[in-house]
Amino acid sequence: MRTARTRLRLAGALATVLVAAGVATGPAAQAGQAPPTLAELAQRHGRYFGSATDNPELTDEPYTALLGSEFGQITPGNGMKWYATEPQQGVFDFTQGDEIVNLARAHRQKVRGHTLVWHSQLPDWLTSRDWTAAELRAVLKKHIQTEVRHYRGKVFAWDVVNEAFNEDGTYRETVFYKTLGPGYIADALRWAHQADPRVKLYLNDYNIEAIGPKSDAYYQLAKELKAKGVPLHGIGFQAHLALQYGYPDTLEDNLRRFSRLGLDTSLTEVDVRMQLPATEEKLAQQAEWYRELTEACLAVRRCVGITIWDYTDKYSWIPAFFPGEGAALPWDEQLRPKPAYYAIREALS
Ligand code: XIL
Repeated sequence: MRTARTRLRLAGALATVLVAAGVATGPAAQAGQAPPTLAELAQRHGRYFGSATDNPELTDEPYTALLGSEFGQITPGNGMKWYATEPQQGVFDFTQGDEIVNLARAHRQKVRGHTLVWHSQLPDWLTSRDWTAAELRAVLKKHIQTEVRHYRGKVFAWDVVNEAFNEDGTYRETVFYKTLGPGYIADALRWAHQADPRVKLYLNDYNIEAIGPKSDAYYQLAKELKAKGVPLHGIGFQAHLALQYGYPDTLEDNLRRFSRLGLDTSLTEVDVRMQLPATEEKLAQQAEWYRELTEACLAVRRCVGITIWDYTDKYSWIPAFFPGEGAALPWDEQLRPKPAYYAIREALS
């Protein structure tokens, strides 16, 4: 028979293990209530808190369990991109995007559509030949309208044009810009709006978190588009941050100036990478950045939500794209919450 003292010791040891595993052991847990999820905490502020995901990961059950319970919004990391959805000209395939939409619907999660017009991850049939302006216009219109129609009522927002500007604020010389001129952006927004008049239409980019030449270019363009009555509803700030480049201190002011144009804003692809190895110090600094960016969004009325670019280091895109860097997300490779997770919770509480 166990004595009262060994029972106590066992309970203490169990609590230590649970704390180490990031499981709450406070009064809420003892009363049998799970701690509130990031989705619930954000919801109290009228915001969403979401994560990107990708089709190959969906067979990982512990991963999908957390994805389904902790987040209020999902973005497909690749499944709705042009190469995936129109692999041959005029032949559409929505199986990957549909899989993620169905999963999200089963968990009552909002879905952000990503992305309709982008210079990257285009199908070979599009990049391997030259197009006249008339041909490319028709191709672009058909792609946008077929995809937007397919997901009508299923996504709340679209990243219509992704990464349209260079760092210095000039237009990126993509096949669309070079063939159609800068008007392709307004056209893309109008075509998307025709196909789904209710969905929120965004322009989305990285390195626009701080006020500077690139975010100024968006500010000017957004102003012009609004003045012309083009259907633009929001700006997506990807927020792929890196500890070695410093925190974008003007983020909150920047979000606010777009709000004042009558636009929604959102942080759409957040991660905070670091040079590996991760140290306790770097993880603490990362946590502070997650806290600050969460607070910045909460401080601006029209910042509608935050999406992290997947939630666990196990499936982060960073190590493959930035060799030597990583550890960018709030959960580690074993799906254990990192200091960043607790910082986000505190910021939302
Ligand atoms: C990334 C995906 O996460 C990777 O799996 C893929 O190989 C490349 O694209 N900006 C964007 C996203 O808008 O679509 C990118 O996603 C990350 C940078």
